[in-house]
Amino acid sequence: MYGPARVKDVCRSMPPIIEVENLVKRYKKAETNAVDGIWFTVEPGQLFALLGPNGAGKTTTISILTTTLALTAGSVRIAGHDITREASAVRQRVGIIFQKPSLDLNLSGEENVRFHAVLYGLYPWRPTYRSMPAAYRRQVADLASVVGIEGEIFRPVKTLSGGQQRKLEIVRSLIHSPKVLFLDEPTAGLDPASRRGLWKYLTDARAHMETTVFLTTHYLEEAEQADCICVINRGAVAALGTAQHLKAELVESEYLLVDAADRPRLLAELESAGLRHTQTPPFRVDLDRRSVHQVLRSIETPLTVVRTHAPTLEDAYLSIVDEPQEEPA
Ligand SMILES: Nc1ncnc2c1ncn2[C@@H]1O[C@H](COP(=O)(O)OP(=O)(O)OP(=O)(O)O)[C@@H](O)[C@H]1O
Ligand SMILES: [Mg+2]
Repeated sequence: MYGPARVKDVCRSMPPIIEVENLVKRYKKAETNAVDGIWFTVEPGQLFALLGPNGAGKTTTISILTTTLALTAGSVRIAGHDITREASAVRQRVGIIFQKPSLDLNLSGEENVRFHAVLYGLYPWRPTYRSMPAAYRRQVADLASVVGIEGEIFRPVKTLSGGQQRKLEIVRSLIHSPKVLFLDEPTAGLDPASRRGLWKYLTDARAHMETTVFLTTHYLEEAEQADCICVINRGAVAALGTAQHLKAELVESEYLLVDAADRPRLLAELESAGLRHTQTPPFRVDLDRRSVHQVLRSIETPLTVVRTHAPTLEDAYLSIVDEPQEEPA
């Protein structure tokens, strides 16, 4: 359904920074493909959200795109570099925040950042923060203030809260100024206030660094803010486009909720007007491309309830992903 021609239609007006073509991943001894021939592109500077139920293949996809997992078939280019043939060029250009936190709990926040910077060959190793080059210290102070952990960055990681650790991971992943930042469920397990705060800092960091952000999430209100949403289900792309596009394409249409004191008469009128409706009050009447005005004109019974319902991203998502997938505990 979402082959190469389709991919060109949506979410694309500039040369892509991520190009995924017919990507397949089959784990050893598995009977089915975890990722089963997906296609999509991401433009530079976009916020791209990968959505899908548990086990859909999101982490598998992100792991392949960041070169931490080998693909089975297909091709992926990041900033023009092939992820298999030019893996080290790709690694220099991407930052990743894993689904499971990956900080060294015995080090301070800044030490975690310093190890990362030195491993990336950005700065020479020095045993203390003070003896690191001024450019490094400036960069750490700058990023820590963008995400709001300037007060905590020198504390041992094990004394930081989950939200502060997530923010520290953002600082670490941005220290080498990646072109693309990958985040696998960055806000999972955070309380609503921390989630909102982290999201704000992520948006600020994105503007600050001009980084393309590719994230997976189970929160539809987060996905709604993305420039492009890709929904995967059982390893395949089920929908691709803006939130607006998904709602228009996947949710039948707006509908009307009506009720009346004289329900038998109302139902008879709906029937004779040929309107599809539910049998339990308040009655859901499908608009079927008619205007609300047209529908209301065919009802003469005095109504006690008249409400329109505009499709939401959740309606669209649930229409694609209606059955829960099997996932081992
Ligand atoms: N190392 C592995 N070996 C074998 N199968 C795996 C491995 N990792 C993942 N899978 C399987 O691949 C499929 C996709 O898993 P993946 O972790 O990519 O899903 P996900 O979309 O990230 O799910 P979640 O929302 O729960 O994080 C699942 O069926 C999973 O059981
Ligand atoms: Mg996952």
